[in-house]
Amino acid sequence: MSRDAIHDPKLHRARRTRLLEALGDGLLLLPTAPETRAVLFVRPRDPAREVWDGKRYGPALAQRLFGVDAAHPIADLWRVLAEVLPTQPRLFHRLGADPAWDQRLLQFFAAQAKKHRRREPPAHPVIQDPLPVLAAQRLQKDQGEIDALRVAAAITASGHEVAMRAARPGRHEYEVQAALEAEFRRLGSPRNGYASIVASGANACILHYHENDRRLRDGELLLIDAGAEFAGHTGDVTRTFPVGRAFTEAQAAVYRVVLRAQLAGIRACRLGARSDAPHRACVRVLTQGLVELGVLRGTVAKLVAKERHKPWYMHGTSHWLGRDVHDVGAYRDADDRPEPLPRHAVLTVEPGLYFAPDDRKVPRELRGIGIRIEDDVLVTARGPEVLTAAAPKSIAAIERICAGRTGID
Ligand code: GLY
Ligand code: MN
Ligand code: MN
Repeated sequence: MSRDAIHDPKLHRARRTRLLEALGDGLLLLPTAPETRAVLFVRPRDPAREVWDGKRYGPALAQRLFGVDAAHPIADLWRVLAEVLPTQPRLFHRLGADPAWDQRLLQFFAAQAKKHRRREPPAHPVIQDPLPVLAAQRLQKDQGEIDALRVAAAITASGHEVAMRAARPGRHEYEVQAALEAEFRRLGSPRNGYASIVASGANACILHYHENDRRLRDGELLLIDAGAEFAGHTGDVTRTFPVGRAFTEAQAAVYRVVLRAQLAGIRACRLGARSDAPHRACVRVLTQGLVELGVLRGTVAKLVAKERHKPWYMHGTSHWLGRDVHDVGAYRDADDRPEPLPRHAVLTVEPGLYFAPDDRKVPRELRGIGIRIEDDVLVTARGPEVLTAAAPKSIAAIERICAGRTGID
C-alpha cells in the first residue's frame, strides 16, 4: 500500500469483477475509468506537460498497476467506444454527474445514427446508472480498504493528540492547525481528507468554520475537526478540549452529556441495526442532557418526539466514511426506510451541542460553548470497533495532556 493509493492489481481486478457481475451485461462507462471487460483510458506520458502538472501513469504503467486487460490513451476513447458500443445491450453511465460527458455521448449517438441514414440505425444501448450498485459495494469495505482506513485513523488520532499538546492561551488557531497537520505529514499522510476546522470559543458554534485565525484565550475550549488521508482513504475526527489546563464546571457538564451521547451512538452501531440507530441514540441522550443542563423542561420521550433538541443539535450524527469524507452509499431504501448497517461499513458518530453566545434561551454560563466529539466506527459481527480510539477523549485523559503542556508562554 503506497501512501497515495492502493496499488494491488489483484484487488482492483476482484473489485471490478464483483461490480460487473452485479451490474450484468453491458458496458460500464465511468469518467476517468471506463471499462469494457477492463480497459482503461488514461492520459499518455508527456514529459513536457509532466514538468508542469506532475507525473502521469501513461497506458503501460496503468495497465500493470490497475490490473486491467488493456489501457489506451484517452484520445482513443471515442474511436474504441464506436467499435464496442454497438455490441452492448446496456451502457452503465451516470447521467447528470458531468454535463460535458452527457453532451459528448449524445453527440456520439447522433453521429452513429447519421452514419446509418440509408438503413435502419442501430438502437443506442439502454443507459443505466451504475452508482447504486457501485455505492453499495463501496459501503462494505474489503481488507485493503479497512487497512487503509486503520492507518488514516491512527494518523488522525495522533494529529489530534499533538494539537492538544500544542494549544495554549495566546497561540492562534492556525498555529495549532499547523502542528496537527505537520503530524499528519510526518506520519505519511500526503494530504488532509477535508479542510481542517480549528474553532476556539464561540467559533465552535459555527459548524463550517474555516477561518482558523483567532487567538486562543484561557478559559475557552478549542474544537478541532480534522482528518488525515492515507492511501486514498480519510479519517474524520473531532475533539474539543480546554485551551488552558482544565474544563470549567459548565464546560465539563456539557462535555459529559455529549460524551455520554457519543458512547450511546457508538454502541448503536451494531450489525443489522437501522442506519439511523446512532442518531436516535444520540438524540435521546442529548435531550436528557438538555433537561439536566436546565435548557429544556418536560419528559424526555415527549421532547424527543417533538425534536426539541434541534436549536442546539442541528446536524446529523453519522455519515459513511471511506475514499470520501462523506462517502457514497444509501442511508434509506426506495421506500424511505433506513437501511440496515452492513458488515464492514465505516461510519462516523459525531454528536454535539452548540450554545451561541447570544442565545437567551439557555443559562448564561452555557452561552458560547460548542462541543462536538467524533470518531470513526467499523461495523463488525463482534460489535462496533472504534478505529480512532487512540485520540484522547475522556475528561481525565484530556486534562492530563492540557496540564502537562510545557513551555507555556
Ligand atoms: N468533517 C466533516 C464532517 O464531520 O462531516
Ligand atoms: Mn464527520
Ligand atoms: Mn468531522
